Amino acid sequence: MSNVIAIDGPAASGKSTAARLLAERLNIAYVNTGSLYRAVALAARRAGQEMGALSPEFLNTLKLEYVPDQNGRYELKLDGSLPGAELRSAETASGASLVATQLAVRDYLLGVQRSFAGEKLIVMEGRDIGTVIFPDARYKFFITATPEERARRRLAQSGEVTDGATLAEVAKAIAERDRQDSERRIAPLKPAPDAELIDTTGFAVGEVVDYIVKKVQAGTEEK
Ligand code: CDP
Ligand code: CDP
Repeated sequence: MSNVIAIDGPAASGKSTAARLLAERLNIAYVNTGSLYRAVALAARRAGQEMGALSPEFLNTLKLEYVPDQNGRYELKLDGSLPGAELRSAETASGASLVATQLAVRDYLLGVQRSFAGEKLIVMEGRDIGTVIFPDARYKFFITATPEERARRRLAQSGEVTDGATLAEVAKAIAERDRQDSERRIAPLKPAPDAELIDTTGFAVGEVVDYIVKKVQAGTEEK
């Protein structure tokens, strides 16, 4: 069994926020795997690559590394520097969803993600952590909220680049990404059969984190 708390779910469901706070509460490391797909999309755009079909040769030129900060939180560096706000833009998000459909990209990122598991428990958050990356994760949660609530959350998020978009536009972009992520052939977005589903609609993030902390502390093994 891997010493991993897997948190998966659709866009803007609150995965990253819950995972970060959970890691702080448990004093363990946290890895946001969506950043990897976002970084690949960003690098491809910067290099003028055809985003719909990235080659293994191009992927092998990328320098992606996670460096821990003083709090044990891993930050992603692309070609030696932190990518900054561009990583969180709506354009990078949809590019990430497109590159994430490709086998070459998923293969390339699989090893990077698996290398995090070790003796110490960690929190990893994404779309396929509990299904593909760590099917034997010690704990698995699948976080959701209604599409309306998720669009509201993304729009309200400070530091998130929604490019002055309206609520309807944000909702549309999220719906398109949900569709692409759920319908793709490789590692589609779906709960692992043994994941605990948490519908966070109407709940504050603190309540969600309290719930997960209790589950983990109780040692509720999901497998
Ligand atoms: O990582 P993911 O895209 O799933 O979501 P996020 O980046 O964590 O964004 C969620 C936003 O909704 C943050 O601004 C949170 O403060 C807020 N939120 C939440 O995460 N969970 C709730 N139960 C309620 C609000
Ligand atoms: O924060 P948000 O939920 O909006 O997106 P993200 O977690 O940063 O992920 C960006 C995109 O990367 C997703 O829409 C997926 O297409 C892809 N992704 C994935 O395929 N597998 C993962 N484990 C994480 C992200």
